[in-house]
Amino acid sequence: MSELDTDTGASAGTPAKSGPLGYGDRVQLTGPKGRLNTITLVHDGEFHSHRGVIAHADLVGLPDASVVENSSGEEYLVLRPLLSDFVMSMPRGAAIVYPKDAAQILSLADIFPGARVVEAGVGSGALSLHLLRGIGEQGELFSFERREEFADVARANVAAFSGAAPDNWTLSVGDLQDTLPAVCPTDSVDRVVLDMLAPWECVDVAAEALKPGGVLICYVATVTQLSRTAEEIRRSGLFTHPQSNETMVRGWHVEGLAVRPDHRMVAHTGFLITARRLAPGTVLPSLKRRASKGEFTDADLASWLPDLAGEVESSEMWSPEVVGDRVKSDKVLRKKVREARALADERGVETAPEVEQAASAAPGQQATNTAE
Ligand SMILES: C[S@@+](CC[C@H](N)C(=O)[O-])C[C@H]1O[C@@H](n2cnc3c(N)ncnc32)[C@H](O)[C@@H]1O
Repeated sequence: MSELDTDTGASAGTPAKSGPLGYGDRVQLTGPKGRLNTITLVHDGEFHSHRGVIAHADLVGLPDASVVENSSGEEYLVLRPLLSDFVMSMPRGAAIVYPKDAAQILSLADIFPGARVVEAGVGSGALSLHLLRGIGEQGELFSFERREEFADVARANVAAFSGAAPDNWTLSVGDLQDTLPAVCPTDSVDRVVLDMLAPWECVDVAAEALKPGGVLICYVATVTQLSRTAEEIRRSGLFTHPQSNETMVRGWHVEGLAVRPDHRMVAHTGFLITARRLAPGTVLPSLKRRASKGEFTDADLASWLPDLAGEVESSEMWSPEVVGDRVKSDKVLRKKVREARALADERGVETAPEVEQAASAAPGQQATNTAE
């Protein structure tokens, strides 16, 4: 019997989401000063702070949302983390989609139980976890990531949260443009979700995989990416007019008469662009409004960045650095892979040591997380 299903009746490989706490569960402890610590309950484990100790065994069998005392009598609130808590604290290889944007993506892309969804890139797997929850066990998620180390981090994070690699999740390593046609035939998926530097490069391949009426949604960080993506969706003639928006969430401090917005907020994360796939051969009726003066082209880009004009190819102009992404070194990335794997190990979940390059694999041989 694995540690995961000891004492609490949780099924093997799947940490309990409700009911009494058990070994293998991840729990958040909130201490006297509101400080938060997240631990995995293991046999003979102890949580130490500078003020005292709590034996993991003291938590096993308690209902979720209980209060326990440490060896000095200090009280701690014990809660199973929500998906949003897990995502915000899990190891990150790449920047994640924040819960506020994941919620918007689920709604705007109309992610439904049973949907067949394509997602690229996977990054740290934050959005994958939200999508897996949205499609349920009947749905299928096909995720694509071009960097092997990021795929490793995502694989471990998803396994750590889910308790096992989900059967309905296929993770392929390679560029979406090259790998999608081999994994998802024409007209076979309901939704395509793109979170990557240059989604405009993937508009045609996404259109090919989508069923008529299917939704394409792109998440980008900067206005320049927003414009380039929207213009490419229009240019393709394969989609309805793209809709763009951003979401700002401001927390409030509500205590007695002190009721006001929080002093700090996450001011900007990204923009969402949504469009629906037209049926083959359909030409969109022109809207009765003034046509835009023109598309966003490489010439426009050159006029914004005159120093680069004529010096570099437009594909080389777009890099994580130019859109202000912080780039992690290989050393830091390897550390994140180790952290993510350790988190999965703590929960008794095995993760694949390596992933194959789907780009070089024959159709049907792409790396998946289901066969390990
Ligand atoms: C910001 S991260 C994605 C974060 C992820 N959505 C999450 O919530 O954790 C962007 C990822 O896209 C990947 N990527 C960029 N272009 C790609 C492409 N054409 N095909 C596959 N992956 C790509 C990058 O390697 C990077 O890991």
